[in-house]
Amino acid sequence: MTNKQANKSIRRVVVLRLILIAIFGGITALDGIISPILIGKLMDNISKKEFSTSFILLVVFLLCFVLVNTSFWIWRLLSLNIRKIINKWLRSQAVENYNDHPQLQSSKILNFINVTIKQFENQIIDSVIMLIYCIEQAVITLFFVIRINPILGLTYLILGFIPAVVPFVFKKWLSKSTDRWNKSYQSYSLHTTEYFNGFYTIKRFESLLIFKDKLNNLLNDAENKYYQMDADKEHSRFVSNLLYSLSTILSLGLGVYFVSIGQLTAGALMSLYLAADRVTSPIISSIQFTNQLLSSRPLIDSCKNIISNKEKPINNIVPQKFTDDTVLEIDDGSFGYDKAIITNLSFSASNSEKILISGRSGIGKTTIVKTMLNELKLLGGSIKYSNTLYAKPIYDNIGVLAQETTIFTGTLLFNLCLGQNYPTASILQVLNEVGLTKFASENALNMRLGEGANVLSGGEKRKLELARLLLRNKKLLLVDEALSGLDKESYSQVFDLILNFPGTVIDIEHNVQPAFAKKYDKVIELDQYAL
Ligand SMILES: Nc1ncnc2c1ncn2[C@@H]1O[C@H](COP(=O)(O)OP(=O)(O)OP(=O)(O)O)[C@@H](O)[C@H]1O
Ligand SMILES: [Mg+2]
Repeated sequence: MTNKQANKSIRRVVVLRLILIAIFGGITALDGIISPILIGKLMDNISKKEFSTSFILLVVFLLCFVLVNTSFWIWRLLSLNIRKIINKWLRSQAVENYNDHPQLQSSKILNFINVTIKQFENQIIDSVIMLIYCIEQAVITLFFVIRINPILGLTYLILGFIPAVVPFVFKKWLSKSTDRWNKSYQSYSLHTTEYFNGFYTIKRFESLLIFKDKLNNLLNDAENKYYQMDADKEHSRFVSNLLYSLSTILSLGLGVYFVSIGQLTAGALMSLYLAADRVTSPIISSIQFTNQLLSSRPLIDSCKNIISNKEKPINNIVPQKFTDDTVLEIDDGSFGYDKAIITNLSFSASNSEKILISGRSGIGKTTIVKTMLNELKLLGGSIKYSNTLYAKPIYDNIGVLAQETTIFTGTLLFNLCLGQNYPTASILQVLNEVGLTKFASENALNMRLGEGANVLSGGEKRKLELARLLLRNKKLLLVDEALSGLDKESYSQVFDLILNFPGTVIDIEHNVQPAFAKKYDKVIELDQYAL
């Protein structure tokens, strides 16, 4: 199923759930009239001393309560279910979208997955479900109240709406305080992650106290803004409640007047009084949930930003039918970010050619690698790949030795294969080739790596990255600093592997000894293209 189809089917499931929630919420909302009817009728029956019908009444109402409770139980389960569906969808969309847009900052997405979705659940999903329920209860009960006495019923409706002015007065204010808290919490969350990731750097440079102070200040700010956001909601609630008390007293007073002029029995007034509360209370709650929803605008915007990023995936590569054995050609290429840092770079590579691109630190080597992989946008010129090399995804025929090696929690075997299947014999052979001889055994393949397990040295990580790459049969290797940080023996071992690779290699290095540089088919110095 494509992502679009999946989104459509999720929408259908959510709408269906909402309809069911509205149906069962409606039955549950009958609770608002069952008690008032029972109490009112009982009062009138008892005052007329009709005890046998009173008992029949009790049995009928018992059945009604069973129906309402069963419906409430189903309504709750449906509410939990819709939360699960939406949470799962939002989280998977955030990851899905990162797939297509690696330029989105990962910290933003992590914050979305860890924090924003929880807020979305509390402030939006729950509010929508409760809002539907409250409106249903208000409408059902109002209908009942109007039936007892239309004038009094309509008066209750008008009085019930007095507190409804509150959300409009507080709307902007609440939205601003939510926004302020959101920004402050994001900053706190980002700095906390950095504190743990960079703990040893901070400790070694003796800046622990400074970082802790900064974190404390950010925490203080975030908590103050959280308090302020909730306090603002309480202010709004306080004003609503005052207006609500006023409208209840006015309603009761009017009811007493109607009894005094003989238009209402005492039982009917009791029913009206109890039921009126079930009109005004849900109206007040609807106001609060509407408040909640109105103040959640920034939250909805931040969700939209993450899950429906409209940016198109980058496509720098033009497939080309070369007449000779050329596999790629860069013509007048400009590489960089907002501004170009490398310009007018032109070169081509033919089948099995070994090309060295060298340049000082920070000149733009990794930038070129990422651009050739469609991970960064090409700023000018063209990149052409032969039809035999070009594929979708681009990685089908191109292998990359990244500058940084990521070790995942799992076994050495998992770290090499990343979930794919390769024959054990090939894996052991590759481990020997890259010089990880001490790990070239079936036993060692099951050794656990990653957090809290065995840790590889810097050089071993480089070799693991190379082994990962050589295990896969690629036509072109893009090597981003294979030789950095290796001792003499490992250096020539890795160098030999690169030069003997059967396909094309573009090796980008910042420091290659002249004796080794000579052995490449072509050497490109980046200095002349740097701005
Ligand atoms: N996301 C980014 N936005 C803006 N500028 C960036 C970004 N990433 C890197 N740069 C800048 O682009 C320049 C080139 O970076 P790049 O990582 O390509 O250098 P490099 O040649 O690979 O360096 P090294 O040898 O240290 O790995 C640097 O000055 C860097 O600060
Ligand atoms: Mg680099």
